[in-house]
Amino acid sequence: MCGIVGYAGARPALNIVLDGLRRLEYRGYDSAGVAVVTTDPDRSTPAARDLDGELLTAKRAGKLANLEKALQEESTAGLALGTTGIGHTRWATHGGPTDRNAHPHRSADGRVAVIHNGIIENFAKLRAEIESTGIEFASDTDTECAAHLLAIELQSAEGATPGERLAEAMRAVCRRLEGAFTLLAVDVQAPGVVVGARRNSPLVVGRGTGENYLASDVSAFIEHTREAVELGQDQVVLISGDDIVITDFLGNPAEGKTFHIDWDASAAEKGGYDYFMLKEIAEQPHAVAETLLGRLNEHGDLLLDEVRLSDQDLRDVDKVFIVACGTAYHSGMVAKYAIEHWTRIPCEVELASEFRYRDPVLDRSTLVVAISQSGETMDTLMALRHAKEQKARVLAICNTNGSTIPRESDAVLYTHAGPEIAVASTKAFLTQLVACYLVGLHLAQVRGVKYADEVAAVVAQLQEMPKKVEQVLSTMEPIRELARELAEAKSVLFIGRHVSYPVALEGALKLKELAYMHAEGFAAGELKHGPIALIDKGTPVVCVVPSPRGRGVLHDKVVSNIQEVRARGARTIVIAEEGDTAVAPYADHLFYVPVTPTLLAPLVTTVPLQVLACEIAAARGHDVDQPRNLAKSVTVE
Ligand code: F6R
Repeated sequence: MCGIVGYAGARPALNIVLDGLRRLEYRGYDSAGVAVVTTDPDRSTPAARDLDGELLTAKRAGKLANLEKALQEESTAGLALGTTGIGHTRWATHGGPTDRNAHPHRSADGRVAVIHNGIIENFAKLRAEIESTGIEFASDTDTECAAHLLAIELQSAEGATPGERLAEAMRAVCRRLEGAFTLLAVDVQAPGVVVGARRNSPLVVGRGTGENYLASDVSAFIEHTREAVELGQDQVVLISGDDIVITDFLGNPAEGKTFHIDWDASAAEKGGYDYFMLKEIAEQPHAVAETLLGRLNEHGDLLLDEVRLSDQDLRDVDKVFIVACGTAYHSGMVAKYAIEHWTRIPCEVELASEFRYRDPVLDRSTLVVAISQSGETMDTLMALRHAKEQKARVLAICNTNGSTIPRESDAVLYTHAGPEIAVASTKAFLTQLVACYLVGLHLAQVRGVKYADEVAAVVAQLQEMPKKVEQVLSTMEPIRELARELAEAKSVLFIGRHVSYPVALEGALKLKELAYMHAEGFAAGELKHGPIALIDKGTPVVCVVPSPRGRGVLHDKVVSNIQEVRARGARTIVIAEEGDTAVAPYADHLFYVPVTPTLLAPLVTTVPLQVLACEIAAARGHDVDQPRNLAKSVTVE
């Protein structure tokens, strides 16, 4: 939800900032813009002499490519010279996705430029106050308030250096803002300095040698430095080439948390694939293996010390609530089946955006599991804060080291999917499933349960899953062919029961967001209560069939449901377990996945649905990695 980058150092900032924006574009792509302060120290070229000490900006509606094209077509001599810069890629909130609403926004006197991620909730009041001083706004954004306020505060800000004065003015502005924001600012009178601030939105500092970076996440500067500093809530940071100075909003010295980035820089590149999404689908066996790595000992006991909840804490749990959004919510739905079955503790799954508004019953013995790839989803963050206010313990399952959700939780279990750049979640989903299984199995082991033998067997079977996911991936060609045939379909339905129900929902979500097609997932048993009326001659229905072993009844019921839709003209696309011949007569298209215990089956049955959605979207000519209207990390409620 908006990507921001800042650079201060000795190298020309423009390309560093643009590269950073390219890596952050998944966060929003309604518009892009940059601001650079030119400070050529030796004034050696005539161009530099003319341009030295200017604040230059460029911005365009649409994807970053539009801005890059504009930069190539127009004279960018000045922008190319500056060694201090900020850049923004936008997911629009206040004000439509136009050139005029693109960031950076400048103060009326032109002195400062500001970029922003988040929403300034009291902007209407601030705007009225600023307009009453005679200042005219050049955009419809909430961000512009911050630019004008900053220029006003700078007139009286105190500090030994121009940079300190900019930081002081930023603190004064932040004290007046309500809502969620990360702000970066440059000031023509403080060349060499970028000042940032954060409340409820992400901001990390990259510590280089003779240069420093600011960004929404580390992928923006990973190719330049692996040393990062995570800012805390309500902090202001000043970076120059040599310095990083952090304070709270009152100016008291503060410290960020330093960490080393162990992601491989190439993980944020497409590596020969047409889309990040295809690459990320292919990375799933590795991501699953990484998420299991080091978490099981040779006796099959789970080693989850990192979770930081004592065995006694876990024995005290009498109810589990899972809160999450979108794809992460679907992983929570699968977890409910597993956790309740293995632990016999009641487990509820709730959309994070609904959770706190219905006043759920929570107390000290409730374990709330907040699942989030980004760790920044505002709905999930607010749900976890509500849970903490009610004294519940919160365990985060998260893919992003140092992000807000794990930082505010009592405990965290990181998924090790690596950076997920495509907006549609794939490998993060599979690793969320793995993490949920680990939590369920750990709870079961600690509490000692009825199904101890089954739990031990599942722990062993989990280790087999990377190979099985690999096996599914090696058989995807027929799915690709089918995708091309389905590209013109008006609507696709997905059905499943038990853990295949959330898989059906996930398959439908992927298709909606990528192919912009009507797609819906249903619990197979619910069809006859209404949705079956949607089925017409040729309607594609994807049927996710449970294993005929294990809960055989479940299998037979789904086979009946397939017959019901087929009898009404549906074209059935069946995902079933190898050796399941009973479904074959009712399948217009049959895809087998490896034999897998029922509760773990979503790890294999989801993969063909991801590929299907990706290929249908590509066949329809859509941008697979950056679907319209979406952003990767949703930092507004
Ligand atoms: C869909 C998708 C979204 C996210 C949701 C939660 O493909 O990616 O539905 O799953 O926005 O995001 P996180 O996991 O970052 O909290």
